[in-house]
Amino acid sequence: MEVTIFIKSLQDTEKLAKIISGNLFPGFILGLTGDLGSGKTTFTKYLAKNMGILDIINSPTFTILKIYNSNLDLYHMDVYRLENIGYDYELDDYIYGEGVSVIEWYQYILNMLPKELLKIAINVNNSGERVITINGEGRYEKIVKDISYRYSN
Ligand SMILES: Nc1ncnc2c1ncn2[C@@H]1O[C@H](COP(=O)(O)OP(=O)(O)OP(=O)(O)O)[C@@H](O)[C@H]1O
Ligand SMILES: [Mg+2]
Repeated sequence: MEVTIFIKSLQDTEKLAKIISGNLFPGFILGLTGDLGSGKTTFTKYLAKNMGILDIINSPTFTILKIYNSNLDLYHMDVYRLENIGYDYELDDYIYGEGVSVIEWYQYILNMLPKELLKIAINVNNSGERVITINGEGRYEKIVKDISYRYSN
């Protein structure tokens, strides 16, 4: 299932993050894709906030992985630097762990990921609006439905 929504402000990003935060489960995997500066880390910050994480969320580009403890732990990954490598086996324990994995540039490590995950693609259009395409199958399908019911501009 796929849904497309429009994000016009940081408030909209927070609204989306809030809907998704209400649907998390242990082992949840969220893949984010979109150009440099499209808002992947910003979305993750709002998700973390709605997961009850009070720490400041910075981009993990140079560390690849940052871990935040909460009711459900958050594993925030940015795998941009794995573009030409395609894997990093140290991430495996987290991707298949009990927390929530949020993976910026997930398309670079597709072969490490299970078939089912929630995929979010961010495209900034000419008027600065963010066009967000969200895909999910299997246990993620009902989350896509929930977003399409509850998110409206
Ligand atoms: N919904 C939004 N409305 C307005 N500005 C936004 C929105 N989302 C993100 N931005 C701004 O865009 C800039 C870049 O955002 P961010 O760092 O989240 O991008 P990114 O996709 O993680 O980039 P990178 O590919 O470098 O990791 C920030 O200054 C942020 O405030
Ligand atoms: Mg980022």
